[in-house]
Amino acid sequence: MASPASPSLRSTLVRAEGIHVWDAGGRRYLDAISGAFCVQLGYSRTDLVRVMAEAASRLPFARPTTFDSEESEGYARELLAAAGPPFSRVLFTSSGSEAVEAALKTAYRYQRAAGYAGRTRVAHLRGHFHGATLAALQVTDYGPRRAPYETVLAGGSPALAEEAGGRPLDEEVGDAAALIAETVPAAGLGAPVPPPGYLARLRGACDAGRALWIADEVLTGFGRVGPLFAWKRLAERPEDQGAVPDIVAFGKGAGAGYAPVGGVLLAHRVASALDSAPDGPFVHAQTYGGNPIACAVGRRVLAALREEKIDARVREKETLLAGALAPLARHPHVREVHGLGFLHGVELQADRSGAPFPRGLAIAERMEAACRERGILVYTGVGSADGARGDFLLIAPPLVSDPHHFAQIAIAITRALDEVMGGFP
Ligand SMILES: Cc1ncc(COP(=O)(O)O)c(C=O)c1O
Repeated sequence: MASPASPSLRSTLVRAEGIHVWDAGGRRYLDAISGAFCVQLGYSRTDLVRVMAEAASRLPFARPTTFDSEESEGYARELLAAAGPPFSRVLFTSSGSEAVEAALKTAYRYQRAAGYAGRTRVAHLRGHFHGATLAALQVTDYGPRRAPYETVLAGGSPALAEEAGGRPLDEEVGDAAALIAETVPAAGLGAPVPPPGYLARLRGACDAGRALWIADEVLTGFGRVGPLFAWKRLAERPEDQGAVPDIVAFGKGAGAGYAPVGGVLLAHRVASALDSAPDGPFVHAQTYGGNPIACAVGRRVLAALREEKIDARVREKETLLAGALAPLARHPHVREVHGLGFLHGVELQADRSGAPFPRGLAIAERMEAACRERGILVYTGVGSADGARGDFLLIAPPLVSDPHHFAQIAIAITRALDEVMGGFP
C-alpha cells in the first residue's frame, strides 16, 4: 500500500528491536509507520516468537476446506468475543486485500440469497484505498495504485464523495449490494478524522437501500486508534452512536507484523442469510486462511492488546503524539495536521492558499528520503487534494512507543521540511 520506495531508497533490513530496525549498512531507523501499519506491539517480542514456534512444532497446517484446528477455533472464538455483537462469524484470509475480496463476495452472496441477484455494484468513497488485488482495486479510488489498471477495471462505478454537498449519500448508494468505506481514510487521503455523523450517514445510506456496510478496518483496526476497531471509537460520538457495520474487513495489525493474519467478521444476520442461501453454502477457503501458526499469533496479539491495556494507552498517549506534531502546522508548507490515536497525517501545501505542489516536484518522495536520512521511517502518499496531487505524510508508530519517540519523529519531520522546502518561497 505504501508508495513503493524509489530504487535509491530501497535497502536491506537485517534486524529489529523494539521500535527500531537496522539496515545492512548498520544504520538504525525509528519505525514511525509500524512496518506497514502492522507492527502494533513492536519488534523482538519473545511471546509472539514463542507461540509461533509452539504452533509450528505442534501442527503447522490444517487444510481449511476440511479441518479446523485448535488455534483457528480458539482465535475465531476469542476474536468474536472481543468484537462483540452483532458479529457471529469470522472467515480468515492471509492479507487485507483478500479480506476485502472475501467481504465483497459475501455481499454479493448475501444479496443473491435475499433475492437481489442483480445487485452487483459496490459503492465506494473518493480517495479510499482497499487493496492491491483486482476486485479490491475496483472499489479503490486511490489514483496512484488504480491508474495502471484502469482499462481492466473499466465498468466499475465512480467513487462517491462522502461530503458531496450534492446528492445525499443514500441516493448515491441506491441499489448497490454494499458500500465499502475506510473508517479513517489513510493511504489515499492522509488520515483526516471523518466529521461527527459520518458513521451514521454510512449506516443510514445502507439501510435506505438495503445495502450492506463493509467497514474496511485493515489499517485502522487492532488498537491503531485505541479499541479493536476504529468504528467503535467513532461510534462513541453522540452523532454516530449505534452505527455498527455489517461486515468488518481486517488484516495488518491482527498479526502485529509477525504472521499474515486477515479476515472478515460477519454480523449474525449476514451469516445466517448465507447459511440459508439457495445456491449452497458460502465458502471462502484459501490454502493459508486460518493457518494454525497465523491464528496462534492472532490469539497472542489479542491477548497482549488486552493485557497491556493498549486501548487505554493509545487514548492516553494520543494527545502527546498530536501535541508533538501540532507545531508542524505552523510551517508555511504544511496545510493541516490531523489524526486520531496512533495514526496522524501531515498534509503539505505549495503556498498558504492551500494549493498542492505540482506532482513533478515529487515532494512526497523527497520528504520520505529526507526523513529517512534523519533516521525516521514515515509513509508518504499523494493524491489527497484531487486524486493526483496533494502530498502528505502518515505517522503511525507502534502502539508501545513513548513520548520521547514522538519528539524525535517531530524533530526529524521539521528538519526534513526545512531541507525539502528550502528551495521554495
Ligand atoms: C484500508 C486498507 N484496506 C486494505 C489494504 C490491503 O491490505 P494488504 O496490503 O494486507 O493486502 C490496505 C493496505 O494498506 C489498507 O490500507
